[in-house]
Amino acid sequence: MANILCIGAGYVGGPTMAVIAKHCPQHRIVVVDINEERIAAWQSEHLPIYEPGLDEIVHSTRNKNLLFSTEINRHIAEADIIFVSVNTPIKSFGQGAGKAADLQFWEKTARQILENSSSPKIVVEKSTLPVRTAEAMEYILNSNANRLHFDVVSNPEFLAEGTAIRDMEEPNRVLIGGRETPSGQRAIQAIVDIYTHWVPKERIFTTNLWSSELSKLAANAFLAQRVSSINAISALCEKTGADISEVAHAIGLDKRIGPHFLRASIGFGGSCFRKDILNLVYLCQYYGLDEVAAYWEQVITMNESQQARFVSSMISSMFNTIAGKRIALYGAAFKANTSDTRESPALAICRALLEERAKIVISDPHALDNARIDLGDAARQVMFESDPYAAAKEAHAIAILTEWVHFTTLNYETIYRSMAKPAFIFDGRNTLDHKKLHAIGFNIYAIGKPPLTHFSAS
Ligand code: UDX
Ligand code: UDX
Repeated sequence: MANILCIGAGYVGGPTMAVIAKHCPQHRIVVVDINEERIAAWQSEHLPIYEPGLDEIVHSTRNKNLLFSTEINRHIAEADIIFVSVNTPIKSFGQGAGKAADLQFWEKTARQILENSSSPKIVVEKSTLPVRTAEAMEYILNSNANRLHFDVVSNPEFLAEGTAIRDMEEPNRVLIGGRETPSGQRAIQAIVDIYTHWVPKERIFTTNLWSSELSKLAANAFLAQRVSSINAISALCEKTGADISEVAHAIGLDKRIGPHFLRASIGFGGSCFRKDILNLVYLCQYYGLDEVAAYWEQVITMNESQQARFVSSMISSMFNTIAGKRIALYGAAFKANTSDTRESPALAICRALLEERAKIVISDPHALDNARIDLGDAARQVMFESDPYAAAKEAHAIAILTEWVHFTTLNYETIYRSMAKPAFIFDGRNTLDHKKLHAIGFNIYAIGKPPLTHFSAS
């Protein structure tokens, strides 16, 4: 039996450890966090995050071999393997502000591990970190007077929110990076041994530390770049009369390109993509690779311009003014099946519409509480309504901002009747049946598609 500890009970730490607990009943897994409220929620009936399948796994493992606690020091002392998944936000001050990762929580955690250890341990980087962070951690951890040895291993998470449990249960690959020394290889093997309880051996890759750290940043940058690429083409579709769904399907049929991550949208959000690309940009600039940095930075510029374009299209279609008009925003989460609103394009669009003095009502099946928090001061100007029918009542427009299935199954005839006329739908996710909605009477503007309106000029 091994004592496994995870520091950081967030979107990554919680689901990851729940799945490890499920498949490794012989190991004792403890998840700790400095946030008492969060730990209390993990111990309650209402888990702090919404993630399909998570409740079941937590219920079947909690208080058996999965424990949640705030007693960080005691559990560090008892642990053999420590996963660290504390957050690594973008630095908001000093050198690298706005781009580099703020590593203060990571370093603080490393020192805390050191202070509370009396036996050697394996420390696993789960958080996404800039390349060569593991080296700095090794220096700190192995700087101790009592000569304890710590092995640092990188095991990046590739789980996407909304499908986190499935991604953990059936990963495309598990990546484990470590040192090529005998002790480093033993540490890698200890982590491999955890995953082989449910992951086929051929899906577990071991590499050196730097390859593992860089692979995580590169994988997210590639995924985000696909979203920006298809969004760039969607802008051209709107100008030329091509349809982005048809174009995406056609190019995705090429096996070399593949069909995934080609959904045009109001842009990518979430805690990872922007942060990881900015980290990559900072790293390239640090090494003097200015063209490489500029290349990746453009992925973010494109993402921001897609949101601005969506807002401009709303304003110009609604006769160049939305001041005082009620607009229902369907969706606050950065993607479907999560309650997470971090970096959500829906909230960016909400803020831009508030600047135009529109009256905003947001509806979302799971993310309203987080939206209220993440909107900060702007939340005071927004109405929050869990019932999408009530949100749309007397609204001039609905904007679909998150691809919840929930919004595709509504009775749009009822909704149309309750709205101000002419009624508009701006589909920022291309999830609705546009022809059907047009037949009901709506004027439809969708990303990368010709508008379907009832105005004679169109
Ligand atoms: C985080 C990072 O954002 C991401 O870059 C990384 O890949 C994995 O960890 P996530 O789990 O989504 O992802 O973050 P979050 O939900 O904010 O959870 C982090 C938790 O760490 C929080 O609950 C926070 O209270 C906790 N924490 C933070 C500590 O326990 N100790 C600290 O010193 C700092
Ligand atoms: C991402 C990575 O997918 C995952 O491997 C990594 O571990 C963490 O970061 P996540 O941010 O949770 O996961 O969600 P993801 O499914 O990647 O979506 C990110 C954003 O891109 C969302 O806002 C989503 O709506 C958007 N997106 C995705 C599109 O706009 N179009 C697409 O085709 C795909």
